[in-house]
Amino acid sequence: MSTPTHLSIGDRLSFDLGAPGRRALQIPQPDVPEAPPLPVGIARARPARLPELSQVELVRYFHALSQLNYGVDSGFYPLGSCTMKYNPKINDEVAALPGFAHQHPLQPDGSAQGTLAVLHALQRALCELTGMTAAALSPFAGAQGEFAGMLVIKAYHAARGEGERRRKVLVPDSAHGTNPATAAMCGYEVTSVPSDADGNIDLDALSALADETVAALMLTMPTTLGLFDPRIDRITATLHQHGIQIYGDGANLNAIVGRARLGDMGFDVVHTNLHKTFSTPHGGGGPGAGPILVKDHMAPFLPAPVVVEDGGRYSMHTPVQSIGRLGAFQGNVGVLIRAYTYIRALGLEGLRSVSENAVINANYIRVRLSGMYRLPYDRPCMHEVVFSGSWQKARHGVRTIDIAKRLIDYGFHPPTTYFPLIVDEALMIEPTESESREGLDAFCEAMLRIAAEAEAEPETVRGAPHTAPLRRLDEALAARRPVLRWTPEPETNR
Ligand SMILES: Cc1ncc(COP(=O)(O)O)c(C=O)c1O
Repeated sequence: MSTPTHLSIGDRLSFDLGAPGRRALQIPQPDVPEAPPLPVGIARARPARLPELSQVELVRYFHALSQLNYGVDSGFYPLGSCTMKYNPKINDEVAALPGFAHQHPLQPDGSAQGTLAVLHALQRALCELTGMTAAALSPFAGAQGEFAGMLVIKAYHAARGEGERRRKVLVPDSAHGTNPATAAMCGYEVTSVPSDADGNIDLDALSALADETVAALMLTMPTTLGLFDPRIDRITATLHQHGIQIYGDGANLNAIVGRARLGDMGFDVVHTNLHKTFSTPHGGGGPGAGPILVKDHMAPFLPAPVVVEDGGRYSMHTPVQSIGRLGAFQGNVGVLIRAYTYIRALGLEGLRSVSENAVINANYIRVRLSGMYRLPYDRPCMHEVVFSGSWQKARHGVRTIDIAKRLIDYGFHPPTTYFPLIVDEALMIEPTESESREGLDAFCEAMLRIAAEAEAEPETVRGAPHTAPLRRLDEALAARRPVLRWTPEPETNR
């Protein structure tokens, strides 16, 4: 094999490129008197060892760095439960209009009528799409929406004198981790509800747990197994008989938007992740928005502010028994405007085709890959499909993490792995509606080739990725203790 003569992307990312004396800029000689020297003890003993690069080396360094970013604008990003769909650029253009972008959060309502009108219209649109009656837009993320929603439920029970008695929250074992975490943060005992063999909530177990000590069920619909529970009406009706409130994690609204509404299914409080279903950019922790939507009986407890309209004037309002504010100001208004733009650009018909295509795309992948990967719940899915890498693990010692890493070599972002927790070696694939048939086929081809490689040359898959500048990282450590800047060697610091 011939040795490549150009620098790889990894080499180009070394901060030790360059040579002494190289500069990216020529700074003119100063024509003002030199400042007096720094006092002893403050001045460095030796000059700092900074990289010395020419301009082109510097540009290539930053360019190489930018190429390490993989996003929805780079390629297929099938991260299950995350809905990494394309975010139309018109959303950004509208949010950047000076009338929105140049507003100050402390401006009086009277001079922010345009923005407030948009927020009010978004509240109404989200209520309409979810079948709820009142909204608060301020939560900054899905998890914060959950927190707000559960505090609303807690305040509702307390106002009825049932706060003490209702100390438990039921959470299915397939739930996203933020659900039990939220319930615990709100001071509730978390009780796990098992799933049955079909992936639905186990109705007998649920009925046995339902009594007057339970404050709420937190349920994602479709579930985080990508499945729609056909008995949802029975679930909500059974629990309502005991005064239990139904919290809907609407992060997966992508699958049903424009076609079915959580409010009509009996949910009392719902949050929706605008940074998923409503196409506002996300990843890397933000910015997002997790508005909550409630039925009438919960409206007095909504977090502040909510936008109200009276005779054509809009203002920010604190509901009478509000749980309070979740943060400074009005939430991520730029994200809210992007979501509203998306809703208006598509209209109801467009939104209906979003959920239609999200579901068709996931089922296309389900059918193409079943047979090569184990399908723990072999039934039509909604917007995402959960496979298991357990066949590959048992037969060839190839684990789901290996399959995910091998996908990087084929140019794809890996799917979600090892979640939901109840699926052994889970591989959760969410293609989203914005992928073309060709994009889905290319991904399926890669997955099928990896399945064949796992048989014929398992060490290739176990050693992946082979093409990435960095190989296997300690992901937990990287998230907990990220090294985000270059630090000069200590002895040359001073
Ligand atoms: C089902 C579900 N619920 C809640 C959340 C939390 O949303 P966020 O990441 O915006 O806090 C997510 C995010 O991935 C999710 O998939």
